[in-house]
Amino acid sequence: MKYRVDFLTLFPSSIEAMMGKSIIGRAAEAGTIELGYTQIRDYSENKQMQVDDYPYGGGWGLVMNAQPLKSALDSIKNISTNRKTRVIYLSPCGSVFNQQHAKRLKNDYDHLVLICGHYEGIDERFINACVDEEISLGDFVLTGGEIAAMAVADSVLRLVDGVLADEECYTGESHWDGLLEYPQYTRPEVWEGRQVPPVLLGGNHEKICKWRTLQQIHRTKTRRADMFAKFKASDEFQKNAVEKLSGKKPKRPEFICRRAEKSDLDAIMNIKNQASERLKEAGVMQWQNGTPTKELFIEDIDTGSGWIFEENGNPAGYLSVKTDKDTDYEKYSSIWPGVEGSYIAVHRIMTSNDYVNLGLASEMLEFAEDICRGMGRGSVRIDTHRDNKAMLALLNKNDYVNCGSIELDIPEKNDRMREAFCKLLWS
Ligand SMILES: C[S@@+](CC[C@H](N)C(=O)[O-])C[C@H]1O[C@@H](n2cnc3c(N)ncnc32)[C@H](O)[C@@H]1O
Repeated sequence: MKYRVDFLTLFPSSIEAMMGKSIIGRAAEAGTIELGYTQIRDYSENKQMQVDDYPYGGGWGLVMNAQPLKSALDSIKNISTNRKTRVIYLSPCGSVFNQQHAKRLKNDYDHLVLICGHYEGIDERFINACVDEEISLGDFVLTGGEIAAMAVADSVLRLVDGVLADEECYTGESHWDGLLEYPQYTRPEVWEGRQVPPVLLGGNHEKICKWRTLQQIHRTKTRRADMFAKFKASDEFQKNAVEKLSGKKPKRPEFICRRAEKSDLDAIMNIKNQASERLKEAGVMQWQNGTPTKELFIEDIDTGSGWIFEENGNPAGYLSVKTDKDTDYEKYSSIWPGVEGSYIAVHRIMTSNDYVNLGLASEMLEFAEDICRGMGRGSVRIDTHRDNKAMLALLNKNDYVNCGSIELDIPEKNDRMREAFCKLLWS
């Protein structure tokens, strides 16, 4: 049976003029939904076709009589048997309407009768006898119920199959999952000097999804603290974003660390490619043009210095811990603090895209420091590109000290300078 909405009103033509247009109007024209407009006055048994009278007890204004309302309602019910009908009075005293009401009215009924009051409202006895629920559009008072009835009808009818092009048209919108929608943009890319966020132009669907989710959560938090407080995250990504925005520390995944093997090479190269891509996006020239090479990782594995971190079997991060002398670092022996030769070197520390900002890189550094302590050595050495802000922040956060600039013997001929860092473990 087609979903039907009947309006009981003193101004049917005003409602019809609006509801007969655009998406809802087209759906009605196509027969996907049915709309009915009933003039309450046509059902008055009063000689002057009067529909209202003075309030008992005195006071301003007029109150709509019960009789014409009841007769109009009966006429609709008589031709709508076998339907799941819900009679609703639009009233500032009702419960405030929201998307959950719309979903419920769409799912539980196939017929709404929307009663529009006017003047001071309608006789309470009619409400008690005939109305199933009262709905308010918000905490303000309108002249009549027509605008509220149209709002309720529109929001329910757009959920009916076939009214919008696809279910996603409404499931991705504000209030569906307890969040506000992300910001939307269309052409041109630059309008009056304002740029569309670059992530939306890149065509990377996964990144766009994550960006939009973060925007939704951030928007909801900043604009609707009430909604944010009630919001329940549906996946790990949402959960971490909510916890981060709430100032709570995200729960750290549990990593297992083991020596890398040849069979891990594909996974390691995958992590390396993701890390290189992130650097490229951040405008950092480090690890571009194929470096670090597969041969270097094979050498790490052969010498037992390659370590892989996994969560539930998923490769999450990689680092190389060199316990023999590092030829590049040895050339600059004067810059490093601590006892000469009493160090280990960390290289190629990297995480996959899924484990960025989850504390893994810090955990890998701590792991290297444990190895260093276990060997009775005094410091951990590491270097990074001066533009690699993420790495610089990580080293700073973990109390690594900048010891100066060094030139590495690496394939990137024009970009071999690196910042050297060290952490003394016994100081
Ligand atoms: C002027 S109002 C009556 C207000 C009423 N005397 C009161 O103070 O609660 C006239 C009609 O407008 C409609 N109306 C006004 N504000 C509304 C709101 N916030 N939501 C839904 N309907 C509303 C109702 O149908 C109501 O009967």
